[in-house]
This record gives sequence, C-alpha cells and structure tokens, in this order.
Amino acid sequence: MQQTLWFAAAVVIALGVGLAQDSTDQAVNQGKAKGSKGTNAARGTNARGRGAPRDPTQSPASTPEPKTVTPQTYPAEQVQAGEQRFVAQCGFCHGRDAGGGETGPDLMRSELVAQDLRGDKIAPLLKQGRAGQGMPAFDLSDADVNAIVAFIHDQKTKSEALGGGRRSVDASDFATGDASAGRAYFNGAGGCSGCHSTTGDLEGIATRYRGLALLERMLYPTAGRPAPARPKATVTLASGETISGTLASQDEFTIVIRDASGDRQMFEKKLVQYKIDDPMSAHFDQLGKYTDADMHNVYAFLDTLK
Ligand code: HEC
Ligand code: HEC
Repeated sequence: MQQTLWFAAAVVIALGVGLAQDSTDQAVNQGKAKGSKGTNAARGTNARGRGAPRDPTQSPASTPEPKTVTPQTYPAEQVQAGEQRFVAQCGFCHGRDAGGGETGPDLMRSELVAQDLRGDKIAPLLKQGRAGQGMPAFDLSDADVNAIVAFIHDQKTKSEALGGGRRSVDASDFATGDASAGRAYFNGAGGCSGCHSTTGDLEGIATRYRGLALLERMLYPTAGRPAPARPKATVTLASGETISGTLASQDEFTIVIRDASGDRQMFEKKLVQYKIDDPMSAHFDQLGKYTDADMHNVYAFLDTLK
C-alpha cells in the first residue's frame, strides 16, 4: 500500500513537471528565437528545480502546499503577460513555472503567496526585496507587477487543482470517484465535450490506458506519445495578405510561423495582426478549474469508456 502511494505520488509529481514545462513551452521558444543568453541557464534551473530525482523524504513535495486563503482569478491575457515578465525577471531564481529554482524558493509553497490577495503582499515585497536573503528589489510598473501577481496566482490555482502539492492524489482516491457526476461535468461545467466525444476520440480510452496511465493522459496528454499538434497561427500583413501555419515560436516582439511548405517565416508583432489557436492550452485551462472531486469523478467516468 505504502508503495502504491509513493508510486502515485511520483507519477503525480512527474505530471506536475510535465504540466509546468508545457506552460513554459512558449517561453522556452521565446528564448530560442531571441538566442537569448539567459535561456539555457534558466532552462537548466527549471530542470534542476523540478526534474531531478530526489529523496522523497527530503523533497519539498512531501510538505503540503499552503492553500490560497482567498481564491482569485485573472484574465488570461494578464496571466500570459505575467508569465513573460516572470520568466524574464524571476524565472532564473524561482524556476520558469514559479515552482522553485536554483536559488529561489518554490512559490507554490510560499505562505506569503497563499495569503496574498491581488498583490497586497507580493507587490510590497517586490518593491523592497529582502536584502541579505538573496531576493532583489524590483522597480516595476504597476501593470507589470499586477501581471506577475496574476501569473503566480494562476500557477498556484493550477497546482492546487492538481491535488494541492501534487501528493494528495493517489490511486485509491481515484477509485472513489462518481462516474455519473463525472459524466455531468464532462458534458457541462468542465467543457470537455466541446473538444472531445465519448463515441469519437475518447471511445475506448480506458482500454488504451489503465489506472495512472489514464489519469496521466487525462491531465497531461502531451506527456506520452503521440504528441499533440503544435498551435496553429495566422498572420495578417498590413497589405491584407495572410500567412497560416504552425506556430514555431514567439516572444514579446516576434512570431515565427512554419508555413505549409515547411519554411520558417518571422514577423514583427507590432507590424502585423496575428491569431494563435492552441487547443492544448485550452485543455490546460480546463484543468486549472478542476476541484479534487471533479477530477476524481471525471477519471471515474473516463474509466467506464472501455
Ligand atoms: C536573484 C534571485 C531572485 C530573483 C531574480 C527573484 N527572487 Fe524572489 N526570492 C529569492 C530568494 C532567495 C527568496 C527567499 C528570501 C528569503 O529567504 O526570505 C525569494 C523570495 C520571494 C518571495 C517570498 C517567498 C516567501 O514565502 O517568503 C516571493 C513572493 C518572490 N521571491 C517573488 C519573486 C518575483 C515575483 C520575482 C521577479 C519579479 C523574484 N522573486 C525574483 C530569489 C530571487
Ligand atoms: C479546447 C479543447 C479541449 C478541451 C476543452 C478539453 N480538451 Fe482534452 N484534449 C484536447 C487536445 C487538443 C488533446 C490532445 C489530443 C492529442 O493527443 O492529440 C486532448 C487530450 C485529452 C485526453 C487524451 C486523449 C487520448 O486519446 O489520449 C483526455 C483523456 C482528455 N483530453 C480529457 C479532457 C477532459 C476530461 C476535459 C474536460 C475537463 C478536456 N479534455 C477538455 C483538447 C481539449
């Protein structure tokens, strides 16, 4: 039993790594596009902060994550802007996903973050820093601070949705889900049926994946094969000409598209209009909204699709 629990915890932690990496995927590309010197270092930080195997008794993952005192939500655009700021200014120390890095603590486990309401604790800390403790002071615009706050809380909401510290989820818990409540969530509040069909793409999913593999697929489909398609992007030039293809990379200033013939084309964002359609990120947005009970119920429901 003990072993099963550790295994489950390990899988769920691994899922956390995957999810975090996916959400920073664009940011990683951003670094590549720029050829920025910080990229490799920051990437390395992330890998060390999360991916390295640890003695479970030593791992910060074995202490529960403090729960957000006042749950709060932020517009997706603000969270996205915050992610860019965070990766650039904070990610080197705290990890690109705020989950801890080389020198900075895991902000998902921070009491200060758990107690923060719309920046009332984080903003003053950023302004003052903690001299002598390795946390620098930052002189940021209010908009940047607010965006960073939005990103941190969004990460925390997602992390809590994955089981508050990613260790409270275990296989026996999942066996207790209510399949009919899961069906209702799938077709209703969860919005899953907008993209999936139980008689189409998800038919027989519980035969293809069992137990934790099914859970992994449900939470983090990009973790295994086949990898889902890259986001689609369409750029409209000032002349009215449009170029569509898959999104190769983007950063604050540029967007790179791989067009139908496989060529990479780079555009300056301020000179064009562009639209990115990323079904995977919508899938992850849904994940952030799961309560523990929803997650167990949906799992139980998917487990009936044999
Ligand atoms: C040079 C490395 C470094 C950078 C860059 C950095 N931090 Fe920190 N941060 C730290 C360290 C180290 C601590 C822990 C300080 C302590 O022990 O009191 C910390 C603490 C914090 C805490 C408080 C955690 C707690 O519970 O006490 C928050 C919130 C935080 N940082 C957010 C940020 C944000 C947001 C940014 C970017 C704008 C940022 N940090 C940039 C190193 C860094
Ligand atoms: C906006 C569209 C969208 C929404 C909403 C969405 N997903 Fe997904 N989902 C995807 C995409 C895209 C994939 C990746 C498919 C692939 O493997 O190529 C995926 C993959 C999956 C898979 C793995 C499928 C397989 O064959 O391995 C499961 C299970 C799943 N989603 C369940 C859910 C559940 C449950 C919800 C509701 C909470 C949900 N999804 C909401 C788009 C969405």
